[in-house]
Amino acid sequence: MKLGRIAVMGIVAAVLAASAVSVAVASPGAESASPNQGDTLRGLGARVGLRVGTAVNMDVLGSTGVDAPYTDITGSEFSTVTPENVMKWQLVEPTQGQYDWSPADDLVAFAQQHGQRVRGHTLVWHSQLPNWLTPAAFTNDQLRDLLHKHITDEATHFRGKIWQWDVLNEAFNDDGTLRPTIWLNAIGPGYIADVFRWAHAADPKALLFYNDYNIEGLGPKSDAVYAMVQQLQAEGVPIDGVGIQGHLDTQYPLPNNMTANVARFDALGLDTAFTEVDVRTFVPVTTQEVLAQAEDYTAMLQACLAARGCISFTVWGFTDKYSWVPGFFTGEGAACIYDENYQKKPEYDALAQTLALAGGVPIRHRG
Ligand code: XIL
Repeated sequence: MKLGRIAVMGIVAAVLAASAVSVAVASPGAESASPNQGDTLRGLGARVGLRVGTAVNMDVLGSTGVDAPYTDITGSEFSTVTPENVMKWQLVEPTQGQYDWSPADDLVAFAQQHGQRVRGHTLVWHSQLPNWLTPAAFTNDQLRDLLHKHITDEATHFRGKIWQWDVLNEAFNDDGTLRPTIWLNAIGPGYIADVFRWAHAADPKALLFYNDYNIEGLGPKSDAVYAMVQQLQAEGVPIDGVGIQGHLDTQYPLPNNMTANVARFDALGLDTAFTEVDVRTFVPVTTQEVLAQAEDYTAMLQACLAARGCISFTVWGFTDKYSWVPGFFTGEGAACIYDENYQKKPEYDALAQTLALAGGVPIRHRG
């Protein structure tokens, strides 16, 4: 497994070296093949019609400078933002019937001030639910009513301010069967169509996404999502896109044919987005692992750039300083594109280089 990765990495290094050479000989238009000083991911993405985003930790973003470099980079490098936590049910309704929208409202305001669009994350999930919301406390009919009310209230609160909503998050197991969540158990498989219809009724203009991990490449889980979205389309359910999280790990092979996988969703007329990209590895990081991380970031971005309807590419936090990875994966870290001191890492350069190269090619993106 590891040997395969190292062999592929040689190719990546060769491609990067070759592109550096082509810039050095500077033919007309060659300036677009390499990022210039002062280019941002947002600016490079704009040239190919792709929004580049980050998840935002609202404990450290603030106009008064809770963490000033964090706030500055969030505003300057990205053209779309996703709340890492503050739109989740646990955070918006910690006590039943008492909403707290303020951190999420702050992020929406920040985005508006910085010309950014917002990915809403997430209306329906089995995780990060409020403590009061348990199967034991309610009947199945009550749970269905509570979910309907939650979606209606949240999507209505933010109506007109959300570009893409992750309506439903992580509804499948890795083998492609439906995950037995509180929602599947209470409502049955029909809950999937219900939640998209309810979200659409509350905010008819938002793009409505299904979002999951381990669906980057071809495989049983992405096959199941593909079958589900076709079924929803056949039933006239309002679904606009598929969000591919993109939490990769250098200890595993690259997902199988990401470009073909994104393309098949594209061919259904759906938008796609990479929504939570990071590439973790065991720390301390070796040079080989850094190359593997840069390769993974590059491959995901390439798969997105190759699909006309891939409208955004979002990293799940841009700095190792606040990454969720060390807290969730023992011994792993260094998953982001900036280090803990806000220095750009090779992974940043890999994204910038790939966007710059794409800028020289006449591809068009929707959105
Ligand atoms: C994670 C956050 O990054 C953490 O801060 C939080 O403690 C747990 O959730 N898939 C998702 C995200 O859809 O919402 C998760 O975010 C990461 C995995």
